[in-house]
Amino acid sequence: MAILNILRYPDARLHKVAKPVTEFGDRIHKLVADMAETMYDAPGVGLAASQVDVHEQLVIIDTSDTKDQLRVFINPAIVWASAEKQVYDEGCLSVPGIYDGVERPAQVKVSAFDADGQPFELEADGLLAVCIQHEMEHLLGKVFVDYLSPLKRNRIKAKMLKEGRGIEREAALKAAGRRF
Ligand code: NI
Repeated sequence: MAILNILRYPDARLHKVAKPVTEFGDRIHKLVADMAETMYDAPGVGLAASQVDVHEQLVIIDTSDTKDQLRVFINPAIVWASAEKQVYDEGCLSVPGIYDGVERPAQVKVSAFDADGQPFELEADGLLAVCIQHEMEHLLGKVFVDYLSPLKRNRIKAKMLKEGRGIEREAALKAAGRRF
């Protein structure tokens, strides 16, 4: 297993759209194991492959207190979302230190494949529902700060750029440069 580099906002690679996984096997098992090690080390409750620069539809989540209930969602799709909404203070491993309220459906039903390629469906509410939606948006190239006002987003961007160091900083500056 290995700890992977997590891309930091506003790295342009976070905005790539992930492709479906078409082959299950050792490569996917290794990716899941490496992503799990990376997520637990961070520590975080969810990680999308996009955040480790792998642009395939794979998300891992563990919202348990004991950190031993890893869930894997491959090629996930929301098949139902409640009309009822909830606002949750979200954070993101790609935007360290930033938390802000995001409104989303309170309950969702998701269909996906597990790491062995077995299909399943899951109904989620609370933190798990928030996490599923947040991670799935990474696969679409979206980061939660995209929901915030342009003023807030620019402030966060500036903060992230200031904090970035070394190669990460260079990559972030390059990414920001492309937006103008
Ligand atoms: Ni995130």
